[in-house]
Amino acid sequence: MGKLQDCPFHLGKIAQQKVVNEDGLLFPMVLLPQDVSDEGNTLQSFLHTIESNREWIDDHLKKVGALLFRGFPLKSASDFNAVMEAFGWDEMAYLGAASRIRVEGRVFTANEAPLHQPIKFHHEMALFEDFPTKLAFYCEIAPPDGGQTAILLSHKITERMEEKYPEFVTKLEKEGLIYSAIFPADDDPNDFLIGWQTLYKTKDKEEAQRKALDGGLKISKLTWDGNKMTFQIEASDSMRIVDGDKKAWFNLLTFNDLKNAPILGDGSVIPKEVIESCLQIAEEEAIEVKWEVADVVVLDNRFVMHARRPSKPPRRILAAFCK
Ligand code: FE2
Repeated sequence: MGKLQDCPFHLGKIAQQKVVNEDGLLFPMVLLPQDVSDEGNTLQSFLHTIESNREWIDDHLKKVGALLFRGFPLKSASDFNAVMEAFGWDEMAYLGAASRIRVEGRVFTANEAPLHQPIKFHHEMALFEDFPTKLAFYCEIAPPDGGQTAILLSHKITERMEEKYPEFVTKLEKEGLIYSAIFPADDDPNDFLIGWQTLYKTKDKEEAQRKALDGGLKISKLTWDGNKMTFQIEASDSMRIVDGDKKAWFNLLTFNDLKNAPILGDGSVIPKEVIESCLQIAEEEAIEVKWEVADVVVLDNRFVMHARRPSKPPRRILAAFCK
């Protein structure tokens, strides 16, 4: 671990960590305070360590894809907000349709969807041309059972899909995917997506339509079925090359269930077997972060996907998005 001589933290361990590169670095990298005494381990000292080691943090996030800061004395959303400011990354506005509430500053609830529902693997805002390159989560209340955030290296899915279905992956690269989205007018408290009236902050269909077409998605067709807004999104890049050597699986084949699966750009349906394999590979590559109070997890959203496991209440995870 010679390369970690300049590490401003102690290295910790969690179950399932994987070696990600030739330096022997682990995914996720677990970072603990060097001084655990009450006088040494303060929020101020944590913020100072982050501010004076921004380059080291950026560099290792890029190398590993996920950093878990554990054992630091964060007590509130406002402490987490201060940590986000200390990293120095610009805030990115969240434009997706997940149900979130702004808590403080640049901090939101991670998702208001009922806790018993899993949220499958995805890159945040994967269908937007402009998506956050980094995400951070903070654990305010750790769930008593379940509720882990699972993470995986997305390019591992591409590698394994290329091995198993080379022709399909070539076609996917060439054709891209077409997604269909249906938004009811009202929010459904049992769904993790919100209705169009909340999403576009209007009850006026025309205004909502304008905002949808202007909202950073490549919408090719928008229609109304009564009060339901339906649109098709064409996502040309289903994979993205990251830092020259990683081909991220930047699509929602791990997210949609079979009945809402996207189709290929030429209109052909994706074989059920391919989607099922993709979901299985995602599970095999997954690492679960079992939350402890005050944990902060930072992800490189360009090549790391995340998912939420079903949870017993209470669970309160906050999130922040960075450009
Ligand atoms: Fe997410």
